[in-house]
Amino acid sequence: MDKGEKFGPRQDLDLDTTFQFLPAPNAKKLEKKHGRRRLWIGVGFVMAAVALSLLTGLLVWRLHLHSNDPVPRIYVGSMEIKQHFLSVYEDSSSIQFSELSSQVSKQLQSMYSKNAVLVKYYKRSSVDAFSDGGGDSVMAYYQSEFDIPAPQLASVDAAMTSLQTPAESQQSRQGRVLVKPADVLDVNSVVTRAIDPRMTSSSILVKKSFNVHVQDGGMVQSPGFPDSPYPPSIYLQWRMRADPDHRVRLDFDTLILEDNCQNDFVKIYDSLAPMEHAAITEYCGFPHHSLSFVSSGNVMLLTLVTNMEKNFPGFRANYSQVSLAPPGCGGSLSGDVGFFSSPFFPSSYPPQTTCVWNIQVSHDKLVKVEFRKFYVGNDSSDCSQDYVEVNGRRLCGTKAESTVVASRSNAMTVKFNSDSSYVNRGFIADYEAFIPSDPCPGRFRCTNELCVDLSLRCDGVDDCGDGSDEDDCTCEASHMRCENGRCKAKFWACDGINDCGDNSDERNCGACNTGEFRCKNGRCVASAMVCDGKLDCTDGSDESKCEKSVAMTTCSELSFRCKDGGCVNKVNPECDDKDDCEDASDEESCRMSSWCTHTNTHTHNNTHTQSSCQLVFLECGSRPYRSSRIVGGQVSREAEWPWQVSLHVGTKGHVCGASLLSPRWLLTAAHCIQDKGPIRYTQADQWEAFLGQHTQSSANEWTVRRKVKRIVVHSHFDPFTFDNDVALMELDSDVPLNQHIWPICLPSPTHQFPSGHRAWITGWGATREGGVAVSVLHKAEVRIINSSVCNSLMKNEVTDGMLCAGVLKGGVDACQGDSGGPLSVTSQSGRVFLAGVVSWGDGCARRNKPGVYARVTKYRRWIKEHSGV
Ligand code: ARG
Repeated sequence: MDKGEKFGPRQDLDLDTTFQFLPAPNAKKLEKKHGRRRLWIGVGFVMAAVALSLLTGLLVWRLHLHSNDPVPRIYVGSMEIKQHFLSVYEDSSSIQFSELSSQVSKQLQSMYSKNAVLVKYYKRSSVDAFSDGGGDSVMAYYQSEFDIPAPQLASVDAAMTSLQTPAESQQSRQGRVLVKPADVLDVNSVVTRAIDPRMTSSSILVKKSFNVHVQDGGMVQSPGFPDSPYPPSIYLQWRMRADPDHRVRLDFDTLILEDNCQNDFVKIYDSLAPMEHAAITEYCGFPHHSLSFVSSGNVMLLTLVTNMEKNFPGFRANYSQVSLAPPGCGGSLSGDVGFFSSPFFPSSYPPQTTCVWNIQVSHDKLVKVEFRKFYVGNDSSDCSQDYVEVNGRRLCGTKAESTVVASRSNAMTVKFNSDSSYVNRGFIADYEAFIPSDPCPGRFRCTNELCVDLSLRCDGVDDCGDGSDEDDCTCEASHMRCENGRCKAKFWACDGINDCGDNSDERNCGACNTGEFRCKNGRCVASAMVCDGKLDCTDGSDESKCEKSVAMTTCSELSFRCKDGGCVNKVNPECDDKDDCEDASDEESCRMSSWCTHTNTHTHNNTHTQSSCQLVFLECGSRPYRSSRIVGGQVSREAEWPWQVSLHVGTKGHVCGASLLSPRWLLTAAHCIQDKGPIRYTQADQWEAFLGQHTQSSANEWTVRRKVKRIVVHSHFDPFTFDNDVALMELDSDVPLNQHIWPICLPSPTHQFPSGHRAWITGWGATREGGVAVSVLHKAEVRIINSSVCNSLMKNEVTDGMLCAGVLKGGVDACQGDSGGPLSVTSQSGRVFLAGVVSWGDGCARRNKPGVYARVTKYRRWIKEHSGV
């Protein structure tokens, strides 16, 4: 292990405690004598003016002078040396390391000295590491320090970029190879670039490097993980090496850093030097997709930089090595159907990789390729970085819908290419042969060449993705005709969502004239009356969506009620980090709370209850803390849903889901608490709650189990209609809160979850109708669905206490085993609110059959009454 402390601990951040404030001057002395006052004022003015101009002059002079003061600048680079690699080169304390390093430094010195710009500002170079460059070569990774006056920075950067390697510069002289001096290395290539400025920030106090051989696999993690925050003001780097002809693979199971990448970040390089043009990726915050990376060669550098603040739990990643040849990178594909994907999918593809697939189908057919998932490079217009090329056309960026490309012959060439930096998640593709006269046998042909079931044509849902299955339809009686010719179910009209695509379903809704606002209750008021602090609509809808909060004494049904009786007529003012109520009660439940722990100790015949209370910073619905049965979904990441609870009953194991509301209380579905045959689900002692759980089958280091002390089922729960499907569970003792176990925010009774808004469902339930529960927690994204629309889809079985969410196309939903779990909605402030409790559905994930949830806002008061939360 190499300490490599380039930036030693600094003292200059210590506060100087010798500072003192001057004592206030005696007030009497400030009283001026009247007679001389004018004169003094005059003199004062002149002196002040002189002082001011002197000061300005001094400042300008100093600024000018300072702009020419040299500033230290660090460049990092790699040099490929034609020389046999020895494993001792990996040991920085070996003689061989020192010898080769000094040769590299000399080589660099001689290169810089030949450049008129660089020679002026060069200070020194040092080698950080060597690796096996393959093909009998050694890669050296080094830093070069320069002292450069600010105005020259750009010209030095340019000189560095244009620097030729010695081999190139020798050959360029009429192809004659000069005899090189004996002490100079035989160099294939040299690349040197400025380092990421965040890595040389003066706030970094500790720099450490670790060398890791990945051949046997293992784990790296940030210091303190997972129980304490990672250290502040550090630069850590892990140099990972694989065997020759292998690649390094890194899979993160947790990555939770501060949200601002200027402060804390993880950056990964396809090199052992942090060179920008070899940066594979950079992350901060809490990325939600899976994070898995593969290097192009046998090295990878993982870096962690943090700022002064102590923060989130950090990261943990597994490393391993994989063989150099990526499985399935290019080749000939024959047969009339097939599948291919970017190298190492679902891991991100490696940099510097090209794969070419030659698809050939029967001579009388054409080929079409459908990219089902597509994340390649970025959305640049020319796709000059990473891209997929089909029929000479480049595709890049992120495609939300399937993309289809068809050929004009029975052959097609698909090329994938990644450049040297910044990778993405890749793609998966299916190909299929088709007869030109009938490209979609028995199915409908979309304009984008996708084929969809004929029954999906003209049903009001865009199944093609480009809407073409909904064009040129004769609308049935239950459908309306949009201005763009599409047919949509009549109940979609005037529901506040643009279903037609041209908004024609939302026009002419009621008889309000221009210059008027249409209230929720159908009345029309002058537009000027909106957000004027008066309830003109009488139902409050004219004051309910105002940017500015108007604290009023007149309250409507839609206003948020403050503790002091005041009202706030702003949408969702609670927990948005702004005090809207005069008494700040809108923020109260999510800021400071006192959290008491009660422990019972039994002695002979007495029970002592010991209570200890502490003030905690309870940020509900934030994942995770600072300082201190889903269909159509995907596997979630650890700690992604820290309020998700698994409820077990005896030998049955997982039965239902629940949400954590506080260290003591859970909210679940009342229908989970129904006695069935011999199992007494209504008895609290039959239940056990698992918190911080990720996988059901294997024990998890963060899992906390609690017995249930008490169950409160809503007294009006109707087991036939599932109305009021909520129940509270009190745990036998508080659970510790950490990044894996954290409460979700409860919405106030007036909180709005508008239709169309995105929401997430999570659970261990079945992944298809009639399926079985899963082991790993799944998540799926759905949308809130308008209640009247939902009611007509669900045969009028949706009550006021229910909320619908789903994907009307079908394919995404909660299912058996998800009941009681959360429908989570992220608010504008980033906090997650519990909008619903998984309750019921018509089958699972069926088309036009959304999931139905208990509407939590309706039960907010009931929750408070029975749990105090
Ligand atoms: N009742 C089910 C359970 O006990 C959950 C049903 C949710 N169904 C749906 N299609 N959203 O697990």
